[in-house]
Amino acid sequence: MHFPNRRKGLILAGGKGSRLRPITNAISKQLLPVYDKPMIYYPLTTLMLSGIKEYLIISTPEDKIIFQKLLGNGKKWGLEINYAVQDEPRGLAEAFLIAEDFLEGNSTVLILGDNLFHGYGLSNLLQESSLDNSQSTIFLYQVKDPERYGVAEFDENGKVLKIEEKPSKPKSNYAVTGIYFFSNDVVKKSKLLSPSKRGELEISDLNNLYLKEKRLNAKIMNRGMTWLDTGTFDSLHKASSYIQTIEARQGLKIGCPEEVAWRMGFIDNESLKKLAQPLTNSGYGEYLINLLEES
Ligand code: TTP
Repeated sequence: MHFPNRRKGLILAGGKGSRLRPITNAISKQLLPVYDKPMIYYPLTTLMLSGIKEYLIISTPEDKIIFQKLLGNGKKWGLEINYAVQDEPRGLAEAFLIAEDFLEGNSTVLILGDNLFHGYGLSNLLQESSLDNSQSTIFLYQVKDPERYGVAEFDENGKVLKIEEKPSKPKSNYAVTGIYFFSNDVVKKSKLLSPSKRGELEISDLNNLYLKEKRLNAKIMNRGMTWLDTGTFDSLHKASSYIQTIEARQGLKIGCPEEVAWRMGFIDNESLKKLAQPLTNSGYGEYLINLLEES
């Protein structure tokens, strides 16, 4: 596989987590477990599968140190992981302002730290989008409760006209998912945004700027793929059950950074073996060793 650009990954892992209180009184949502892994492993591996090796994790000031303890500088997984803080949750689009120095004018992909993607064809879809540097790309997914998200309004030919943020009367059932590929002018564009009525720099406003310039691809993520968010008690529980069900059935892990790093060629057999050793008591390490044996 060949990735000619230096698209860099942003993982937004701040926010209030107010819908998960009291669980999130002392710890960020993105550090909570989703079945057998910390939540942030899932968005991280999604970006790894799209070929990204350089990351900035944006978290609350309090939890930056815990993310660093968990992920380190990324070297063990063949990555480079950097850290930054968002001192208040001032909106998703603030990520690009915080990341200005890190991005150094490169294109980027932002993923929300509490979003989980899984399904056949996902890696290809992401890799394809990652290679297109002239356009920005968002993904639309059919949901029952679109009013919770940015929602696409289509014209009669199925072309997206506008994205409306949390509309009370959604014009479609297609929600904008929490993964966004932006071209290298995203920082410049984000500087044009003003806070919305709820005081946030809205990513939907940013998407609408690209739409106006006809530089936004809106791709449908089909029903064969799974998109879950994990922001409430029920959705967190359901996400854990989903992972447990599929992993038990297939004997394969979802969102395992050691495995993805190895499969993507970011680390070699020897490194995978080393990573497995301290993890044997939980069965996680055994899983990694089995990968090596089966290959
Ligand atoms: P949300 O789920 O919309 O917000 P939240 O995490 O603060 O939770 P709640 O609504 O329960 O208070 O955020 C989506 C993701 O984006 C989540 O991973 C947190 C992150 N986020 C930030 O990092 N900074 C922000 O300014 C916002 C709004 C969200």
